[in-house]
Amino acid sequence: MTTNTLPAAAAGTWKLGSFEVNRLGFGAMRLMSTSDGGIRARETSLAVLRRAVELGVNHFDTAAFYFDGPRSANELLNTALAPYDDLVITTKVGPGRDFEGTFYTARPEQLRAQVEQNLRELGLDHLDVVNYRIGQALDRGTGSLADGFGVLAELREQGLIRELGISNVGPEHLTEALEIAPVVCVQNQYGLTARREDDELVRMCAERGIAFVPFFAVASGTGEDARVAEVARRHDATPAQVRLAWTLHQGPHVLAIPGTGDVGHLEQNVAAAALELTAEDLRTLG
Ligand SMILES: NC(=O)c1ccc[n+]([C@@H]2O[C@H](COP(=O)([O-])OP(=O)(O)OC[C@H]3O[C@@H](n4cnc5c(N)ncnc54)[C@H](OP(=O)(O)O)[C@@H]3O)[C@@H](O)[C@H]2O)c1
Repeated sequence: MTTNTLPAAAAGTWKLGSFEVNRLGFGAMRLMSTSDGGIRARETSLAVLRRAVELGVNHFDTAAFYFDGPRSANELLNTALAPYDDLVITTKVGPGRDFEGTFYTARPEQLRAQVEQNLRELGLDHLDVVNYRIGQALDRGTGSLADGFGVLAELREQGLIRELGISNVGPEHLTEALEIAPVVCVQNQYGLTARREDDELVRMCAERGIAFVPFFAVASGTGEDARVAEVARRHDATPAQVRLAWTLHQGPHVLAIPGTGDVGHLEQNVAAAALELTAEDLRTLG
C-alpha cells in the first residue's frame, strides 16, 4: 500500500524542498511526558510512533532538546523508525539544554555541534530538514538571524543538512534568510485563537511556496471555546480535530504537526486530515 491511500494523506501533500510529505505530520515534543508531568512508558511512546507510520504520517518534527529525564525524542524516533525509509525528519537547532536540562541559546559557532548531536542521536549521516529556531521561550525572536543561519547554510553546502527552515520568526527574518539560502519552512506558534498576527506571514509563505508549520495548533487555546465545540458537535468530532482541520484549511502550504504521546489522540489527530470544514463552520469559527 502506498502512503497516498493512508489516513494521513487525506489532506494532501506538500514539498519541503526535495521532500514530499503528507500535510498531516507529527510533533515529537509530547512523547516523553504525560500531561500531569509523569514520564511516559517507553513502549507507549514507541507504539505511538509506529502507529503514526501505519497511518501514513511521514513528517516527524523533533529536537535534541526534547528530553525529559531518561527519555529523549530523538532516541525514541531512532528506535521506532530507523532506518526511516521514506520518512522525513525535521529537527531544530538554536536552543539547547545542558545536563541539568537548563536551556541556553547556541552561539553561531555552536550550531555545528548541535547539528552533529542530532545526527548522533537520530543515527543519520545527514539531516533532512533543520529549522533555525531563534528567540527566548515563546517570545518571538528579534534582531538579525544572519550569522547563525549563515552557519547552517554552510553545513547544508557541506552535505550535513538537506533543507533549511526558520522558527519563531517575523516576516523580516524570512526576507533576511532568503538572501542567504533557500528556506523550505517557517515554524511558528499559530492557531485558530493564537498569534493571528502571523496571518500575514502565512500569506507571505504561500506566495513564496514555503511551508508554514504551526506549533501548538491544538494546545493554543484549548480552553473550551464554545465556537469550536459547536463545530465539533456538527461533525461528531473533537475540539482538537476542529483546530487541526482549521489549521489545514489555511492553505495547501500549511502543515500540521500535532504532538501527543497517546495512541487514541494520535488516531484522532490523523483522522482530522479528512475533516473538511464547511463555509458555515468557518463563519462560526470567525
Ligand atoms: N519551533 C518551536 O519553537 C516549537 C515549539 C513547541 C513545539 N514545537 C513542535 O510542534 C509540535 C506541536 O506542538 P505541541 O505538541 O506542543 O502542541 P499541540 O500538538 O498543539 O498539542 C499538544 C497537547 O495537546 C494534547 N493533545 C494532542 N492531541 C490531542 C487530542 N486529539 N485530544 C486532546 N488533547 C490532545 C497533548 O496531550 P497528550 O499527549 O495527552 O495527547 C498535548 O498536551 C511539538 O510536538 C514540537 O514538535 C516547536
